[in-house]
Amino acid sequence: MDSTFPQNLLFLFLCLFVLFSAFSAKPIPQASSSSLATLEVEKRIKAFNLFPECDVNVVSNEVAVQTSKLVEKQFVFPVAGSPGPSARELGHYAGYYKLPHTFAARMFYFFFESRNSKKDPVVIWLTGGPGCSSELALFYENGPFHFSNNLSLVWNDYGWDKASNILFIDQPTGTGFSYTTDRADIRHNETGISNDLYDFMQEFFKQHPAYVENDFYITGESYAGHYIPAFAVRLHQGNKAKQGIHINLKGFAIGNGQTNPEIQYPEYPEYALNTSIITHSDYVVIKQLVPPCLQLSRSCETEGGSACGEAYAACNNILSQIRFKIGRLNSYDIRMKCDGLCYDFSAVETFLRLESVRDALGIGDLCFVSCSEEVYNAMIRDWMRNYAVGIPGLLEDGIKVLVYAGEYDLVCNWIGNSKWVHAMTWSGQKEFGAAPTVPFVVDGVEAGQLKSHGPLSFLKVHNAGHLVPMDQPKASLQMLQNWMQGKLTSSKAAEKVSPK
Ligand SMILES: *[C@@H]1O[C@H](CO)[C@@H](O)[C@H](O)[C@H]1NC(C)=O
Ligand SMILES: *[C@@H]1O[C@H](CO)[C@@H](O)[C@H](O)[C@H]1NC(C)=O
Ligand SMILES: *[C@@H]1O[C@H](CO)[C@@H](O)[C@H](O)[C@H]1NC(C)=O
Repeated sequence: MDSTFPQNLLFLFLCLFVLFSAFSAKPIPQASSSSLATLEVEKRIKAFNLFPECDVNVVSNEVAVQTSKLVEKQFVFPVAGSPGPSARELGHYAGYYKLPHTFAARMFYFFFESRNSKKDPVVIWLTGGPGCSSELALFYENGPFHFSNNLSLVWNDYGWDKASNILFIDQPTGTGFSYTTDRADIRHNETGISNDLYDFMQEFFKQHPAYVENDFYITGESYAGHYIPAFAVRLHQGNKAKQGIHINLKGFAIGNGQTNPEIQYPEYPEYALNTSIITHSDYVVIKQLVPPCLQLSRSCETEGGSACGEAYAACNNILSQIRFKIGRLNSYDIRMKCDGLCYDFSAVETFLRLESVRDALGIGDLCFVSCSEEVYNAMIRDWMRNYAVGIPGLLEDGIKVLVYAGEYDLVCNWIGNSKWVHAMTWSGQKEFGAAPTVPFVVDGVEAGQLKSHGPLSFLKVHNAGHLVPMDQPKASLQMLQNWMQGKLTSSKAAEKVSPK
């Protein structure tokens, strides 16, 4: 039924998506209408070159019957000019797990066994949006393959499957190939999302018991700055309560994330001034939008409900104003000017519509929803919530936390991320604050700046925007590897214990 939703509506897939006119000089009072959203959406279609066929995968029963028998399928994609291992030697799976605490939701995933060892950690990747498919990262960032210019696949030398057994999943329900027959399964908050992710992992380990003993890490980007800590807290609770299968959660990593909006939003003008993308007089004007944003985000924290929609509008006005000032500069990578197109991710849609690919995956006639406007809109009141609150408890229990940020991203910029990381109250807060900033070295060259103490690390990644694994593939793989092996450290105490 939703396949009739206007097809040429795309909206921006990553982090802060501004639903409001960039031209208004005043903070916008009320959570504004979806017609304003639509205008913004149409503007952005061109920037990312994505054209989802349907807005959301809420489907009729008939479509569901076709796919419901499919639990999991091993598939082989044709990989061109492959210097790597034959795809046939590796376990590559795709499929659905039915989510038990939903009316009728099925979550779609890709699972790639490690090219290195089956003993490598299991890693789950979550793309943000909210409402964008993790297949965007799979094919353009850290998955095992990239597209060559003729739509065939080539091995990605820096795919994260070189150091992990990696899952890319489509969530929340309605996104990518994940679907339901009941609209009531569309999620509105991190409670629903983290329960679904928890249930998904339980199903996964039931089907893949060989991986239960492996270390487990949660990773992702952008709006996943919300999903990841909420999911980690949920998993840890499940483990402590001896609920279901014990999942060996060792840590989580957030890339250019939106985690603590009340701390991150006021840093937009600071970042924009610091990088000289706006003038000092623009800075002074835009900074006046910060107090109303803060006031409303506090009401959102205390009252919830409509205050959260209002806070979303007022706070995003800050980013809107900056975007207006910077014109065609790409807010995800301020080194780039976009002439209409900032990124071209259209090949993933073309590829996933190929008959041969659909047959290999067994997805029948389902739409591929690269980004869902409905899923996005359903999360508006979740947007301004602070998900850093659950992290100290995890740090105290020794769960590793890595927050990294490409230095040229405005939208989830490193300054705001560094601020919330420093602001967390935990037993190592003082030591973290006092820890030295040291170079993160890849191939003898400084690839970033690292600060860490105990289980907490912050990494500013050089020469990268919002999409770190796309911009710095080698550094991002080394980051993941070093971090999982406990070798990503800057403090002296940690250096002494880490070499193995
Ligand atoms: C597609 O590109 C790959 C890698 O560049 C190449 O090996 C292959 O021959 C090409 N296939 C066609 C049909 O052009
Ligand atoms: C989360 O959303 C569900 C509806 O999807 C609602 O029943 C529940 O009360 C919400 N929880 C919180 C904490 O807001
Ligand atoms: C930007 O911030 C960096 C790091 O805090 C600082 O060293 C630099 O001087 C700042 N630049 C400007 C133009 O404010």
